[in-house]
Amino acid sequence: MNSKPLPGHPHFAYRGNELFAEQVRLSALAQQHGTPLFVYSKAAMLAALAAYQRGFSGRQVQICYAMKANSTLGVIQLFAQAGCGFDVVSLGELTRVLAAGGLASKIIFSGVGKTRPEMRAALQAGIGCFNVESEAELEVLSEVAQSLSLRAPVSIRVNPNVDPQTHPYISTGLKGNKFGIAHERVVQTYQRAAALPGLQVLGIDCHIGSQITQASPYLDAMDRMLDLVQAIEAAGVPLHHIDLGGGLGINYHGETPPQADQLWQQLLAKLDARGYGQRALMIEPGRSLVGNAGVCVTEVLYLKPGEQKNFMVVDAAMNDLPRPAMYQAYHQIVPLKPNPTEPHTWEVVGPICESGDWLGHDRHLNAQPGDLLAVLSAGAYCMSMSSNYNTRNRAAEVLVDGAHSHLIRARETYADQMRLEHLPFPSSSAAGEAPAH
Ligand code: LLP
Repeated sequence: MNSKPLPGHPHFAYRGNELFAEQVRLSALAQQHGTPLFVYSKAAMLAALAAYQRGFSGRQVQICYAMKANSTLGVIQLFAQAGCGFDVVSLGELTRVLAAGGLASKIIFSGVGKTRPEMRAALQAGIGCFNVESEAELEVLSEVAQSLSLRAPVSIRVNPNVDPQTHPYISTGLKGNKFGIAHERVVQTYQRAAALPGLQVLGIDCHIGSQITQASPYLDAMDRMLDLVQAIEAAGVPLHHIDLGGGLGINYHGETPPQADQLWQQLLAKLDARGYGQRALMIEPGRSLVGNAGVCVTEVLYLKPGEQKNFMVVDAAMNDLPRPAMYQAYHQIVPLKPNPTEPHTWEVVGPICESGDWLGHDRHLNAQPGDLLAVLSAGAYCMSMSSNYNTRNRAAEVLVDGAHSHLIRARETYADQMRLEHLPFPSSSAAGEAPAH
């Protein structure tokens, strides 16, 4: 059958007049599992990983998937089996990695607010490295490690003050951001870390932001990092690895970020030129591994043509796909079965009681109630940021592998949602009646 891949999404293609994920018809999955439904392509995730692996061939590199992008166990298992480590930012994420069969020794623990119990549990699990974000955290971590008669492996997160040229909410490596230690203070912080009895200094780390679509911020960050490596080692603290974080962007709407292998070719050339070519490397990619490997299938509920705007109400909402409401993000929306007649312009909105509940503005679509649409680029920061707002059950998730599909998360139930809640008052026979004495 004639196959027409969606531009930029080679594992999602129209065959005949139907959208497929690999060899599975999306409408069949929607019929089987209901909507809204997240569908991921295993081949797309592995292809995204392969782009990094190609870029690093022959080097000593640990790829730590930043699982906040999509922390579903099935996705973690896939990356663990492909040899990845994980960047975690909470004990919850660490627990997920271990539950999915990931190795503790390949876990790095980032984040500005690690608690003592989280540090303790991570040390006991034997994680590979803590990315420490402040002087205060160094002191606490050393104390906690000492109390367990252990030494915590650490890397210090540097704030290189580089502008990643992305949305302000997801830029993290600028002076005004809460992340990392200002690069002017880094050398003295390393000297302190090396002197603390509960720590073992392993590396240096930075992460400048997310959805970065140009190479230049990375090249600038690498330069600053190498200047610091030189200064730290000159001050007598050897470093085993350099971690350049994650952040590589994807194509949501015509963006043209560098391919992972091409970006790393440039970065490695810089490392080689400055004599650090043999240094162990780590990276923490999230979005670029999963973002374009997923779609969210949704059903059109109602059409509401209006004087000023036409609304297309669908069954997915800001609780499932929070990025448009949070960052005014653009996700393409395409029909599962294209209809050749003239499209109209629609505001695609969800059922939630807020005007902020929109998925797309001014979209040219031709769809009727009951038709199915796919919201593209929904593999990253959608399910992992979803909520139960309006007491909506979280969607189901399916992983497609060739002609097979695996349900990797069942649709939540109302009982699941209410499981942890308790009614505080004795029940009375009729509402409003005074309780019996
Ligand atoms: N490492 C650290 C320390 C991070 O904070 C992040 C993301 C990553 C790695 C992975 O970055 P990535 O490769 O995915 O860009 N919710 C936002 C994105 C927030 C990113 C937070 N940190 C969004 O939906 O655009």
